[in-house]
Amino acid sequence: MNFSDSEVVASILKNKGYELTDNSKDASLILLNTCSIRDKAEQTVRNKLKNFNSLKKDNDKLKVGVLGCMAERLKEKFLEEEKIVDLVVGPDSYKDLPNLLNEVENNQRAVNVILSKSETYGDISPVRIHNNGISAFVSITRGCDNMCTFCVVPFTRGRERSRSPESIIREMQELSDKGYKEVTLLGQNVDSYLWYGGGPKKDFIKANEEKKKNSIRFSQLLDLIATSFPKIRIRFSTSNPQDMTIDVIRTMAKYENICNHIHLPIQSGSDRILKKMNRLHTRQEYLDLIKKIKEIIPNCGISHDIMTGFPTETEKDHQDTLTLMEEVKYDYGYMFAYSERPGTYAARKFDDDVNNDIKQRRLEEIINLQQKHSKERNQRFIKKTCPVLVDKSSKKSKEFWSGRTSENNVVVFPKQNFSPGEIVDVTIEDCTSATLIGKVKKKSIAI
Ligand code: 5AD
Ligand code: SF4
Repeated sequence: MNFSDSEVVASILKNKGYELTDNSKDASLILLNTCSIRDKAEQTVRNKLKNFNSLKKDNDKLKVGVLGCMAERLKEKFLEEEKIVDLVVGPDSYKDLPNLLNEVENNQRAVNVILSKSETYGDISPVRIHNNGISAFVSITRGCDNMCTFCVVPFTRGRERSRSPESIIREMQELSDKGYKEVTLLGQNVDSYLWYGGGPKKDFIKANEEKKKNSIRFSQLLDLIATSFPKIRIRFSTSNPQDMTIDVIRTMAKYENICNHIHLPIQSGSDRILKKMNRLHTRQEYLDLIKKIKEIIPNCGISHDIMTGFPTETEKDHQDTLTLMEEVKYDYGYMFAYSERPGTYAARKFDDDVNNDIKQRRLEEIINLQQKHSKERNQRFIKKTCPVLVDKSSKKSKEFWSGRTSENNVVVFPKQNFSPGEIVDVTIEDCTSATLIGKVKKKSIAI
């Protein structure tokens, strides 16, 4: 999300006459787009800021700004705590950057952290920063209304709102015209997408009948995008179990160009912990959803987010997470130790009472189990041929391309005459837990 937002910021600043530079020594302005999700992410930002001290000494015109969730969370306090910072701008205030920069250029420090009730950046064409010309992100919703008790996002990114289908299609068309091959639709909770003419999702109930009748949900948006851009591979992230509908899964199955991959965070396999997290679904409901996904899209890649050491988590709860992983057999996942975030319900009401060694040991156990499952899951591709979108050179060998299957597995294979951006049929011969290794038997036709 931050990556995508940085591209919006680059577009706004381009219109104010700024250019991008890869070299911080050349910069007159450095913006750090920050994350608050775990304490470690915030510490990384603070360490980065320390590195800018020497740059500022060498260049007294250099200005430093912080954007994103940490800016929103700390507000003016950021200026007190980090003297190097000139500018603090929350995720919904980037359009105000030109004004704020005028203040900063006059040697004032500036802050804007006002959250918005409507989609803020629908009309902006992002400047693609780390551009490979192949894959891009398109934001479709902002904010989150879920209020998981551990999570800072609803506080830093505000209420959930959706972007108009017209502006999404316009951005998709621009990407298509430039030859992009893959788009990931982004939102904290994409399944909750709901366009009814604009405004917070929670106000849909107050909308008039006409608006309700013409409203567009995520499955309809997916359908529209898949039919409008048959040559673009479509992915989306993130899904939430309680909001994902069967219509979405059926739409995925209906279109070849919607990738067979669902990122479906679970956080914990224990019903008691899920309830304490306010996750709004049970273990069984989650497993039922996984069963439906596998019925409708048998080969679907499924990934997860899991957290260890949430307040009061016992060995039994931890075992529930491990057994859930055994039941689902995920392709891969993102795993974290619980990090208490100031201001969240969990921070206010629960003691962070699982000691760090236990959190880390449980984390190691789930990571090890996931690695075992990833390897098992990857083995299902051996001797199979799958379409792979070539993306870049493999990190390990310049002789190999790296790309992704529809299920989101990384594949490496000898380069031959292929080029990034092509979809190539690769026959898989071997695998590790992280990578499929294959070769091309005949040249394929791009979809
Ligand atoms: N501590 C640890 N992990 C967290 N996540 C969100 N909040 C926290 C927290 N306070 C994880 C969740 C979420 C992912 C994006 O980050 O697993 O799905
Ligand atoms: Fe945070 Fe939960 Fe919203 Fe995800 S769904 S952003 S974890 S509140």
